[in-house]
Amino acid sequence: MNRHLQATGLTHYLLAKFLSKGQKAIDATAGNGQDTLFLAQTVGSSGLVYAFDIQERALLTTQKLLKKNNCLQQVKLILAGHEKINNFVQEPVQAIIYNLGYLPGSNKEIITQGETTLLSLQQGMKLLNSGGIIAVTVYPGHPGGRKEADLIDKYVISLSVQTWQVMKWNRVNGNTAKSPYVLFIYKN
Ligand SMILES: C[S@@+](CC[C@H](N)C(=O)[O-])C[C@H]1O[C@@H](n2cnc3c(N)ncnc32)[C@H](O)[C@@H]1O
Repeated sequence: MNRHLQATGLTHYLLAKFLSKGQKAIDATAGNGQDTLFLAQTVGSSGLVYAFDIQERALLTTQKLLKKNNCLQQVKLILAGHEKINNFVQEPVQAIIYNLGYLPGSNKEIITQGETTLLSLQQGMKLLNSGGIIAVTVYPGHPGGRKEADLIDKYVISLSVQTWQVMKWNRVNGNTAKSPYVLFIYKN
């Protein structure tokens, strides 16, 4: 697929319109660090990114990538589940990225779980500035992924339009059931 049409490309493109230098952001699933790097470059050295992952290996890869790109100073790497956001972030943030599922090239059994993802999302939504945005890339195609996708969909559908605008980007041809999709959750 053309990279601009992939979930990551689209997420970065859109979030760049909402996030600027000096602001704060969260990467709730650091993984190999691509999203953390994007956030760190967007907020610059005067901003701050909180990056969570439960795997030390993921944070080490992320750290290396940030160092190579001279962005390490504006990132706090946190070895903890994103369901503990409240323990680590006590200030408003402008953007949050979730890239669910498993770490590519690693143990596919270590995946994000619907219940903890929801707990985290609810905490993140409270921290989000008005005018801020959350991007959640959801992968229904792997074992356990559909269950998580259903939980998240059910939750975001219930959100009040007074406060939230929730948009969904998804494939409409080909294997739609297994294709990743992105939810954008914007706070009015
Ligand atoms: C699809 S990967 C993220 C990809 C990453 N954003 C990137 O740009 O490379 C999903 C990551 O979520 C992590 N993860 C799983 N459960 C988690 C949790 N409760 N809190 C934080 N991270 C979690 C996994 O360890 C894995 O590294």
